Amino acid sequence: DWTMPNYVEEAVAKIRAQVGNEEVILGLSGGVDSSVAAALIHRAIGDQLTCVFVDNGLLRLNEAEQVMETFARGLGVKVVHVDATEQFLGHLKGVSDPEQKRKIIGREFVEVFDAESKKLVNAKWLAQGTIYPDVIESAGAKTGKAHTIKSHHNVGGLPEHMKLKLLEPLRELFKDEVRELGVALGLPHDMVYRHPFPGPGLGVRILGEVRKDFADLLRRADAIFIDELRAAGWYEKTSQAFAVFLPVKSVGVMGDGRTYEYVVALRAVETQDFMTAHWAELPHSLLGKVSNRIINEVRGINRVVYDISGKPPATIEWE
Ligand code: XMP
Repeated sequence: DWTMPNYVEEAVAKIRAQVGNEEVILGLSGGVDSSVAAALIHRAIGDQLTCVFVDNGLLRLNEAEQVMETFARGLGVKVVHVDATEQFLGHLKGVSDPEQKRKIIGREFVEVFDAESKKLVNAKWLAQGTIYPDVIESAGAKTGKAHTIKSHHNVGGLPEHMKLKLLEPLRELFKDEVRELGVALGLPHDMVYRHPFPGPGLGVRILGEVRKDFADLLRRADAIFIDELRAAGWYEKTSQAFAVFLPVKSVGVMGDGRTYEYVVALRAVETQDFMTAHWAELPHSLLGKVSNRIINEVRGINRVVYDISGKPPATIEWE
């Protein structure tokens, strides 16, 4: 009989048989797939697993703390936390082209991850949270069937010289099975059912040049939007929701004074497959509350707009 507890037991036995007493490295992003892979592999081999968590400075509010809290303190997983904010933002300075930004973020990730991995001299395995749809997608890419409009960098960047064996325990699972597995392994519900977040993070949600001060404003605005969506029961009804930073200033009034500050756009969509999407018809009262909170609480933003574009022709992300 197929049950989740039986599946966990089987998957654990399989990992133990594969890995033996060798050591494993895993790049933990905080996303669902790498998180569930980490929890499963840790269940199987404990301290033989070392996770590398790279903070690129483009994560959401408190995201690094949450990852460390859940994995390092909560589950007792060995996690190397690398704060590479300066390196990423340094290389992004002066760059405004979206694809160029993606390439830089992808390249720096490989470089940081590679450098950390080399310090783990006994590692023989590289674990990845590859799931079944990724397997299909990359098979399609090889035959030229899949065409990606945006280059997605976060699958498969194994440096050739490392000669690590690949451990991919989620290869046969669909996304909803991965989520169920995550819950069975004791990961927090909110982490396992979180909206997808792109590899380049806020790097493609700050239009044009990425700056630290813009990222700080955007993080706070985004957190307010997501909090209010959750509080109103709309988070589960939308497939993806986030704030976008527009590096454009507009005039406002506050008290007796005139302000001249930046704009934030809110994006919330409903979709099955992320290939097409409808903008979510959020209640006006909810949008109003989010707008008021952002403008009152995030000094530096004085205008909030709501994106009512479908995909196609617009994409879900603004870059
Ligand atoms: P678009 O903007 O193309 O997004 O409608 C479709 C889905 O893909 C995500 N996305 C990315 N994910 N790296 C990622 O890992 C990327 O460069 C990237 N660009 C878009 C987007 O968040 C949405 O879920």
